[in-house]
Amino acid sequence: MAIRTSKEPDNLQDLNTLIGLIFDSFKSPGCYSELRDATRDLCIVKEELKHDLLIAYDDNSFVGFCTYGDVSIEKGIYKNAMKSKGLKYEKKSFTISMIAVMPEQRAKGVGKELVKRVIEEHKKIGHKHSYVTCFGGKCGNSYKMFKSSGYTELTTMCYHYQDGSEGVVMYKEI
Ligand SMILES: CC(C)(COP(=O)(O)OP(=O)(O)OC[C@H]1O[C@@H](n2cnc3c(N)ncnc32)[C@H](O)[C@@H]1OP(=O)(O)O)[C@@H](O)C(=O)NCCC(=O)NCCS
Repeated sequence: MAIRTSKEPDNLQDLNTLIGLIFDSFKSPGCYSELRDATRDLCIVKEELKHDLLIAYDDNSFVGFCTYGDVSIEKGIYKNAMKSKGLKYEKKSFTISMIAVMPEQRAKGVGKELVKRVIEEHKKIGHKHSYVTCFGGKCGNSYKMFKSSGYTELTTMCYHYQDGSEGVVMYKEI
């Protein structure tokens, strides 16, 4: 698969597919009970947190996306997690706030490619660390994908999500 990335969806239909993917991937009892919750969260991530969006296309088909940017609201969690491992928290750090791949396109390397491109972008501007809180605990595909992308586990937060599942905090030196 030859992945092309874009900072904006090609059209409105792709944006709707993206919002549907957020809802389906994290819906109740995980996070969302309504499609509009997913829409609202994407707006918060983009407009309030000022996180960037990176979309993956295979030819002209939308296959996945991620959002990423300043650690802001989770800074305390990451700082403490680093401290507990005797590691230094670097100011120049970023987080991947959301990542999802279309169900029929999973396990083909799309997620890893998105992570790789976001890391490359931050490396160029001198960032040192990347953080993520993985949905679905250590059994989730997210944990497996970030581990395979070179991330190390820092701590597990019990009952982090609405369904009581764990959030695994991971980081990577870039
Ligand atoms: C998590 C997610 C984004 C991963 O994307 P993906 O494109 O399927 O992942 P990749 O194909 O790039 O993953 C590659 C690695 O992860 C592991 N992996 C990913 N999906 C897997 C699966 N279904 N079964 C086993 N291993 C899996 C593989 O071992 C692979 O490692 P390798 O290259 O060393 O063999 C995707 O599963 C998804 O959209 N899940 C729902 C949303 C979600 O949980 N997002 C995470 C929020 S933190």
